[in-house]
Amino acid sequence: MSPLFLLFSTIILSTILYNLLFKNRNKGTRPLPPGPKGWPILGNLPQLGTKPHQSLYAIAKNYGPLMYLKFGSVDVIVASSNHVASQFLKTHDAIFSNRPPNSGAEHIAYNYQDMVFAPYGSRWRALRKICALHLFSAKALDDFRPIRQAEVMSMAKEVYLQGKEGAAVNLGQATYVCAMDALSRATVGWKIFGEGKEASEFKAMVVELMQLAGVFNVGDFVKGLAWMDLQGVVGKMKKLHKRYDVFFDSLIEARRTGKNKGEGKDLLSVLLNFQGEGGDFEEGKLSDVDIKALMLNLFTAGTDTSSSTVEWALAELIRHPDVLQRAQEELDSVVGRNRIVTEQDLPNLPVFQAITKEVFRLHPSTPLSLPRMADNACEIDGYHIPKNATLLVNVWAIAKDPAVWKDPLRFDPGRFLPGGSHAHADLKGNDFELIPFGAGRRICAGMSLGLRMVQIMSATLIHAFDWNLPDGQTPDKLDMEEAYGLTLQRAVPLVACPVPRLEPVAYEMAN
Ligand code: HEM
Ligand SMILES: *[C@@H]1O[C@H](CO)[C@@H](O)[C@H](O)[C@H]1NC(C)=O
Repeated sequence: MSPLFLLFSTIILSTILYNLLFKNRNKGTRPLPPGPKGWPILGNLPQLGTKPHQSLYAIAKNYGPLMYLKFGSVDVIVASSNHVASQFLKTHDAIFSNRPPNSGAEHIAYNYQDMVFAPYGSRWRALRKICALHLFSAKALDDFRPIRQAEVMSMAKEVYLQGKEGAAVNLGQATYVCAMDALSRATVGWKIFGEGKEASEFKAMVVELMQLAGVFNVGDFVKGLAWMDLQGVVGKMKKLHKRYDVFFDSLIEARRTGKNKGEGKDLLSVLLNFQGEGGDFEEGKLSDVDIKALMLNLFTAGTDTSSSTVEWALAELIRHPDVLQRAQEELDSVVGRNRIVTEQDLPNLPVFQAITKEVFRLHPSTPLSLPRMADNACEIDGYHIPKNATLLVNVWAIAKDPAVWKDPLRFDPGRFLPGGSHAHADLKGNDFELIPFGAGRRICAGMSLGLRMVQIMSATLIHAFDWNLPDGQTPDKLDMEEAYGLTLQRAVPLVACPVPRLEPVAYEMAN
């Protein structure tokens, strides 16, 4: 027998054997969902491009709302319709309550010791409970309302002063400082930024974190290549982690030495008091690392998400002056022109509320949500979902599904007003066609605060100012390109000139 014949017969025999052994074993199980063919070793990773949510949206147009992909050796399931998302995040939410292992959690988030990446279990539950109780509950939100209001006032005043000089304002920056100072006063009891350089430095750290976390790191999916750190991501993560760690150490130190006495019931004082107890934590108590990891979550997940949403909102309104005018008329009739809008006014502003929803629909600040992982195999819509598969919910694509949204790319807040096609849709994880905060057990922990901050910041900027674009730019030419990252940044920051439209006394009230 020739060696070639031997080789062929071996291949044929082993194919038959393989089919007998493994296909039969799979008998009764369902097929995997459809999906595009991948490359050897890397699988579909090279097809993600620079904006994965957009690439996956395009791929789903060919393969449907439930797709199977392979990133390296990892099974990946992508959900791109409200129906499919609800199967995962509602019907089977219990199976998908963990997040997959990843280098960001390891190298930045204190090796999974934070809340965002904590394994689903008692520790995670305890962290969420502390935050819910002391930051996000209706009571906590009420307690900290004066703080938020003061920070929004101070933003308005700052913008007013710049407007009086005819200066242009970087809106992402102004709202970032506001979101951060409001949050930091509630969490660590002092304003992390006055104004200026320090703020842009910390914002750059948050944006870098979101960029790094948004990279699909080859080493996470092809274990054999991890040591090479091909994209240099892990190296950057370790460096960035150091900078955060130093910063959080200094915050804790300032409190312990009494340099920062805080403003009363901030979260840090609660956590430090709690340190002797708390059996759910490592070594039976809450450690400094637990506290730092939680601060890291709050200061990163809670600032840039809110501020960039406001930036998108203003950009849309500048592009749609008719909608801006309608919102201003509503604000004028409810609030008047002698004072700045407050949180108590928000429920009385249906047009403004509809605008907020439309902004979250078109520009969800976490377009691919945060990944989940299948603890067990399951079946969805007749397809087999393998154990350990990573689940990506394309929140961005779902909100643009033409089967659900008429004219999906059009900015049309009217769809959320009485008589509109989605008059009753809410943002809070119940209506799966609109889930900017995710849904299910792992839904955004800070949703109540995030929503509040986005609304009060944008309402204030809309009510208190008209907006012109500098250098003769026309609104229709405003660049709406998205940049890369876990969060949805504008590729070109929005810079606009504010024109005060309230009585001067309204701006004087700001402290
Ligand atoms: C515009 C504002 C915000 C948006 C759009 C947003 C969006 C999200 C999304 C999509 C998730 C993943 C949910 C899932 O897996 O289903 C998430 C998780 C999370 N968010 Fe937010 N977020 C915002 C504001 C905030 C704020 C203000 C905070 C805290 C100060 C915060 C803290 C968190 C935390 C801790 C998690 C992880 C929850 C867990 O794993 O249990 N977020 N957020
Ligand atoms: C899933 O992952 C766990 C932990 O890494 C591993 O022990 C197990 O064999 C994996 N199961 C499957 C079916 O891939």
